Amino acid sequence: MKPINVGLLGIGTVGGGTFSVLERNRAEISRRAGRAIAITVVADKDLARANSIVAGRARVIDDAWAVVADPGVDIVVELIGGTKVARDLMLKAIDNGKHVVTANKALLANHGNEIFAAAQKKGVMVAFEAAVAGGVPIIKSLREGLAANRIEWIAGIINGTSNFILSEMREKGAGFDDVLKQAQQLGYAEADPTFDIEGIDAAHKLTIMAAIGFGIPMQFAAAYTEGISKLTRDDIQYAEQLGYRIKLLGITRRTPNGIELRVHPTLIPAKRLIANVEGVMNAILVKGDAVGQTMYYGAGAGAEPTASAVVADLVDVARTMTADPEHRVPHLAFQPDQLSDIAILPMGEVVTAYYLRLRVLDKPGVLADITRILADMEISIDAMIQKEPHEGEDQTDIIMLTHRTVEKNVNTAIGRIEALPVVAGKVTRIRLEELDK
Ligand code: NDP
Ligand code: HSE
Repeated sequence: MKPINVGLLGIGTVGGGTFSVLERNRAEISRRAGRAIAITVVADKDLARANSIVAGRARVIDDAWAVVADPGVDIVVELIGGTKVARDLMLKAIDNGKHVVTANKALLANHGNEIFAAAQKKGVMVAFEAAVAGGVPIIKSLREGLAANRIEWIAGIINGTSNFILSEMREKGAGFDDVLKQAQQLGYAEADPTFDIEGIDAAHKLTIMAAIGFGIPMQFAAAYTEGISKLTRDDIQYAEQLGYRIKLLGITRRTPNGIELRVHPTLIPAKRLIANVEGVMNAILVKGDAVGQTMYYGAGAGAEPTASAVVADLVDVARTMTADPEHRVPHLAFQPDQLSDIAILPMGEVVTAYYLRLRVLDKPGVLADITRILADMEISIDAMIQKEPHEGEDQTDIIMLTHRTVEKNVNTAIGRIEALPVVAGKVTRIRLEELDK
């Protein structure tokens, strides 16, 4: 059979990994795909670096537009990142009748609805396994392996950089900025690392998983996003003392009032498998009504793990490109005319448990004032520790875990607690999930 010709846009971390994996496993891959898959043309801004990687095995140019217009290219692999040029290139490639493979979660979370509609109209595929959790085949699992289920919730560690930072801070007492630099050197971080540490990248990935899990359009703008940049070593240690570990989790859940779509640091019981996922590894728990909980684990970033997903998509596209588009797996798992418009639940309506840390004056009556406010807002306390003040200090930390309660009540209680004259500064609030049901 005629080989599949691939045009690669961007030969940086993931593009470089994709080029090497395709070359190294060429024979295995063609045994699987039923035909050879070869990168015939590479476009990158940095020609010298691109040429040094490609070493004469493909044509190297600096004009990505020439690749999407090239009649000899069957599949375009977009690995340049960003949401502007990448969007335009992808829409042009689709318009030119090319299938597209991408790892670009920012692009899909922001413009996926437009891109999938264009692909549907043209009868081409847009494959994006690498966009969520690097090398972990979570898209295929959600879209195909769990197709019998009504998905109830998905919760995952889906940003390798922030998990790496949290692990290094907890295990080695390392400083935030130093570990972030390391993650950048290792090729894990986004071009703009605030996407990693402020939870934006995780929210992009969660948006994609929610769309596939629940059969809804991409609704990134409605996601609640909070990152790890304000976490302190004290909170990490207090959580440990209470039997929990803090992870940046993306959580999406079907509730009777709407779909939760939220990314934030979360206390998880230390005994749970997912609490022990460290470093750049990712893990996603999916709860289906028939199967119960399932967990998917693996490297969430880096050149070859991500390339593993890109190349798997190439094989998938190669296998099905001659099939009638009607008989392919729908991009978002559900038939495009069957997407549902269930609303995203505002964060204030979300029900979860909380870790609260307060800096207070160490004097009688303080605790009573605080617990009265909590009781008034129907917030019940599950556990509490009060630290001894350091020598010569008159302030101390109180740490409380609450039972599940609605977030808007916690917001009101925090406002009232912060207004007490005996409370110093802001209350630290971290959400807590047992992940047991
Ligand atoms: P890199 O920055 O390492 O690679 C991008 C490459 O594309 C660079 O060589 C860049 O050149 C080039 N490029 C940028 N714009 C253009 C353009 N207009 N025309 C031609 N070449 C261009 O990024 P990554 O490989 O890390 O990431 C690529 C994509 O994969 C992103 O969407 C990212 O979110 C996603 N991803 C990354 C993962 C990872 O572990 N790194 C994991 C999963 C997904 P120059 O450097 O000169 O700008
Ligand atoms: N910056 C991302 C991460 C890359 O750290 O998870 C993988 O999507």
